[in-house]
Amino acid sequence: MRAAETIRARAARLASLLGVERAIVGGPMAGVNTPELVAAVSDAGALGSLGCGMMEPESIEAAIARVRQLTDRPFAVNLFITPQPAVDEAQVLRMQARLARLRSELGLPRGKLPSTFAPDFGEQFDAVLAARVPVFSFTFGVLEKRRVEALHAQGAKVIGAASCVREARQLAELGCDALVASGIEAGGHRPTFAVPAETAQVGLFALLPQVAAAVDVPVIAAGGVMTGAQIGAALLLGASGVQLGSALLRCPESGASVAYKEALAAVEDTGTRLTRAFSGRWARGVANRLMQEIDAAGDIPEYPIQNRLTQDIRAAANAQGKADCVSLWAGQAAGLATSEAAGDVVRRLQRELEALL
Ligand SMILES: Cc1cc2nc3c(=O)[nH]c(=O)nc-3n(C[C@H](O)[C@H](O)[C@H](O)COP(=O)(O)O)c2cc1C
Repeated sequence: MRAAETIRARAARLASLLGVERAIVGGPMAGVNTPELVAAVSDAGALGSLGCGMMEPESIEAAIARVRQLTDRPFAVNLFITPQPAVDEAQVLRMQARLARLRSELGLPRGKLPSTFAPDFGEQFDAVLAARVPVFSFTFGVLEKRRVEALHAQGAKVIGAASCVREARQLAELGCDALVASGIEAGGHRPTFAVPAETAQVGLFALLPQVAAAVDVPVIAAGGVMTGAQIGAALLLGASGVQLGSALLRCPESGASVAYKEALAAVEDTGTRLTRAFSGRWARGVANRLMQEIDAAGDIPEYPIQNRLTQDIRAAANAQGKADCVSLWAGQAAGLATSEAAGDVVRRLQRELEALL
């Protein structure tokens, strides 16, 4: 079989598994993905994803209902597998002391020791299960087997996220229907859970053929994918489809603030960094003042503790249009993002791909 036929067949199998026309996933983007963005991606024949990792169950229910008002196409809902944090109170207070100046600049009261750090995963998951969504995706860990089975019993498809071969194998053994292979280029948080984060820094070009050889389930390539040519390359390297993130951030349907979109319009290939500053988990975003100050000082509490400590700082900075103190998650190719409507991005990428095949 010619390469073009092989990759067409592979992409068609993934699209049919997910119940969509194109082997393109609009990546979950917690805090930025609106129901409008999800519906626009799904209406264009790809799979829109609603990242609900930071939302309480009632908000998850409302957001899913809104997506369903906007589209009757399949979509995915995404959650974070969040660990129970072991809180080091002294370290939290040291971080609060370091954040004090910034909090007063933004007009926020002095930070305290929070009583909770993240929404309850069991409650979030039950809300998603009750909503009977067509596709469930997760990141930062391995979903419990009984939960995979509960989703499958409903007919839902399950997608996990990996940053290395070992994680891909674990997700395939768990029974995931497909998995995301996230290269070091990718914007947002690293999915890493089975190896030290410092070692899971594999570029997509190296990662894809190794993951594709290691597992039988379809592989969805994530990290820096902004053009049809890159989709073609990912398919040639063994992927069955791609997941977009940064490509959708500047779209009118994206919930990114004006300051965030302006930062993306100006970012160069060297403009992003991996940081633990905002959440305590490694994530890639446009370098800015808060990132640099916190990273330089070190002594950062683990995720989700740090995430909670910076939450109201990021929200206040966002509301005040201060891009230097918000997380500007973006991948290494974010400079190629356009301000087209999300559906137009999906259709353009598909056209560019078709022209190559
Ligand atoms: C702003 C932002 C938020 C993200 N939030 C999530 C999330 O909630 N869950 C998840 O699995 N991936 C998340 N990601 C990763 C994306 O779904 C996608 O895999 C990644 O952006 C691909 O890399 P790219 O940005 O270089 O295209 C996020 C990425 C960005 C840029």
